[in-house]
Amino acid sequence: MPKRFHLGWFANFSAGEWNQPFSAADPSWDGRLYLDMAQAMERACFDYIMLEDTLMVSEAWGGTAEATLRHALQAPKHDPLPLAAMIAAATTRLGVVATMSTMAYPPFLLARLASTIDSLSGGRFGWNIVTSGEDSAAQNLGLEALPPREARYDMADEYVELVRQLFDSWQPDAVVLDRESGVFADHRKVAPIHFEGKYFRSRGPLNTVRSPQGRPVFVQAGGSPRGREFAARTADSIIATANGVEGMKRYRDDVRARAAAAGRDPDSIKVLFLIYPVLGETPEEAEARYSRMVNAPWFIEASLAAMGTVTDIDFSRFDLDQELPHLTTNGEQGSLDKFAQWGSGKTLRQLASERYDGGLRLVGTPDAIAAQMGEAMEAIGGDGFLISTPFQRTSRRAVVEITEGLVPALQRRGLVRTRYEHAMLRDTLAEF
Ligand SMILES: Cc1cc2nc3c(=O)[nH]c(=O)nc-3n(C[C@H](O)[C@H](O)[C@H](O)COP(=O)(O)O)c2cc1C
Repeated sequence: MPKRFHLGWFANFSAGEWNQPFSAADPSWDGRLYLDMAQAMERACFDYIMLEDTLMVSEAWGGTAEATLRHALQAPKHDPLPLAAMIAAATTRLGVVATMSTMAYPPFLLARLASTIDSLSGGRFGWNIVTSGEDSAAQNLGLEALPPREARYDMADEYVELVRQLFDSWQPDAVVLDRESGVFADHRKVAPIHFEGKYFRSRGPLNTVRSPQGRPVFVQAGGSPRGREFAARTADSIIATANGVEGMKRYRDDVRARAAAAGRDPDSIKVLFLIYPVLGETPEEAEARYSRMVNAPWFIEASLAAMGTVTDIDFSRFDLDQELPHLTTNGEQGSLDKFAQWGSGKTLRQLASERYDGGLRLVGTPDAIAAQMGEAMEAIGGDGFLISTPFQRTSRRAVVEITEGLVPALQRRGLVRTRYEHAMLRDTLAEF
């Protein structure tokens, strides 16, 4: 039997697919599209749905929000936390991961919210720890600009230490529920933390009971050396983007070595790589769909504007038919590096059109893609894939194609689970 791997899906609470032949009539701001999606994912035994989030309406493209709003890129985007709670109520085994930025929430409120959703979901909640990547998000939060990456991760280190202490401020047996003595909770087992850090302070204890997992599963996506260091020390699951099987293997080997150096068991971290499969009933049909997408008149601009929103780079300044000069960003450097394929000699137009296959080109029938994923995973060494759709636009059709086409093909090859063994997300991730 081949070694099995894990599956997540990278989505967000956005308009979804809205202008294609199989788009629903209206964007799903009542969340129902995502409830249907989560239930289909649960039938397919995914580990988790990962709800991405950002906190701005980007003006990176040409200094205005026109392209952002015309193409619905990263905006509008609704808050993933209430949606996570709804998904938890509509499912029983699927992990639900939602993104919250350490720049945005006071640690106490984040810990309380995460603890509450972990309880609501019976121990299936995960927190995607991000430090934000855009000046406009920082300005929405009352700052003048986003602090530099190193400082953000220094703050995040302290932040995570603080919330860990809050999660532990209720001992596992603090709730006594003793009718005879009339004691609900033993006050000796609920203690303040009196945390005094360089950036954050909190008294504690948390005013929620200890949640089923004790703390949510920690998910992170560090791309820079500093970000990887943070992820290796903190995350239970790392979500990553890298170029090709080689790049994925290098990334995973690197974070595992960093984890071991920090005294962690590398096998306790599940690294999931972002992929964008394009499926068809025949290879020709899949190729035709892929080609229609990348040749659509809006695709190049939308692709570059979307990359601009998470890097704060105005790609409208560059010639489409020239090579892109080497750039750095205080935002998502890892996503920029993958997109730009530095040194490849490709023009900006080529880079934009290849945006969704730079990681691993997966265009074909469900069975062919399942075979390719199996081979890739064997070469990478683990631990799974994070499936998504271009621009994170979801449709019921895309969900059916993945959950009732691709996943069954993976299951027939013995590559992914066919049933859940555990109730809680941390145990589901630790299963293999
Ligand atoms: C798959 C994936 C998902 C991500 N999701 C988010 C997100 O929801 N919100 C966000 O602000 N950043 C998100 N990021 C950005 C990362 O948190 C991180 O900043 C980025 O990978 C760059 O790494 P660095 O911070 O080490 O430079 C994501 C990155 C990846 C690869």
